[in-house]
Amino acid sequence: MTDFAATKALFDLPPGMIYLDGNSLGPLPRAAPARVAQAVTAEWGQMLIAGWNRGAGGAGWMAQPAILGDRVGRLIGAEPGHTVLGDTLSIKVWQALAAALALRPDRRVILSDSGNFPSDLYMAEGLTGLLGQGYALRVVEPRDVAAAIGPDIAALMLTEVDYRTGGRHDMPALTALAHAQGAVSVWDLAHSAGALPVDVAGGGADFAVGCTYKYLNGGPGAPAFIYVAPRHADIARPALSGWLGHARPFAFDPTYTPGARVERMRVGTPPVLQMAALDAALDIWDLVDMADLRAASLALTDRFIAGVEGTCPMLTLVTPRDHDRRGSQVSFRFADGYGAMQALIARGVVGDFRAPDIMRFGFAPLFIDATDVDRAVAIIAQVMAGRLWDDPAYRARHAVT
Ligand SMILES: Cc1ncc(COP(=O)(O)O)c(C=O)c1O
Repeated sequence: MTDFAATKALFDLPPGMIYLDGNSLGPLPRAAPARVAQAVTAEWGQMLIAGWNRGAGGAGWMAQPAILGDRVGRLIGAEPGHTVLGDTLSIKVWQALAAALALRPDRRVILSDSGNFPSDLYMAEGLTGLLGQGYALRVVEPRDVAAAIGPDIAALMLTEVDYRTGGRHDMPALTALAHAQGAVSVWDLAHSAGALPVDVAGGGADFAVGCTYKYLNGGPGAPAFIYVAPRHADIARPALSGWLGHARPFAFDPTYTPGARVERMRVGTPPVLQMAALDAALDIWDLVDMADLRAASLALTDRFIAGVEGTCPMLTLVTPRDHDRRGSQVSFRFADGYGAMQALIARGVVGDFRAPDIMRFGFAPLFIDATDVDRAVAIIAQVMAGRLWDDPAYRARHAVT
């Protein structure tokens, strides 16, 4: 059994804060500052350029995207050697999508849904615009995705857990439907990796991408990851053909030859200091069984839903009640949601707001427990019953909501 009291002790959270925003930016692992300091002073400071290589005098920075990629890969059910880190998630979405389209050259349509994260949709728009030749993005309502998977679809591009509602798509079933119609699937796991058990290999995903700064706690700006299924690994075309995805980067060959398997999805120089922080965060994940995580997450979200619904009739639940359709966040609709969230944050309950009216609360069992949920519910009830959000101080919108 995973000891979640032990994992909680491995995070440095401000005293008194109930942090329900680990679905946006995970908190600081206590071991991360020393690990980053070591990468700065002992590695960068003393090894300098030798830091890239492994062995005596080196820190092995160049191999880290694949090594850490495998550590993330374990959490998403990937076969070893098929996940690599780098860049930002938006870039990895573009890369996966471009490779997916190249696998189906006779088709022109990317299918996605209106619950997808805007950056994914923007990346698809940018890519189809660049390709021209009739390429198009088709966006349907989340509930209509299955019916919209037809024989003209080249790539099905979905985020497994909706960033606003917390609703979860059935990844294996939709992937199977896509395959039956000859389409390739691209799954964004931003709100799945570290939030619930994922099985990209068992579920048949062709490509999967995600970030490491949310539930995985890699810190602001932590690199993204990309998974390419083994059956595509040596044929997937890396449209962002950077030198570190080359088969022999240090041959400095003027023409591009893709590297082996997922290594070809590397682009340029990896973010060494960010990877040091992520390495420390992933040590905590070594203590976690994903089935235990899921059981704890569902218990927390159930408890929160019951508590808020029992005390705040003005809040409308938008997250599915059905466990199979839920991620690890709970969202409520409220017309003055922005101000209400500011009032909560001022009282130590940190969630976030997603336009136009969604109050979003993330539940990460690694550092949130039932006592936190009960305290959060009591504060939410107080703020809502007393209309404490109705204060000009809470109306001014920050750039990041
Ligand atoms: C589902 C999803 N996709 C893509 C992104 C964009 O990620 P990035 O800013 O790392 O490019 C986010 C960011 O929160 C996201 O939640």
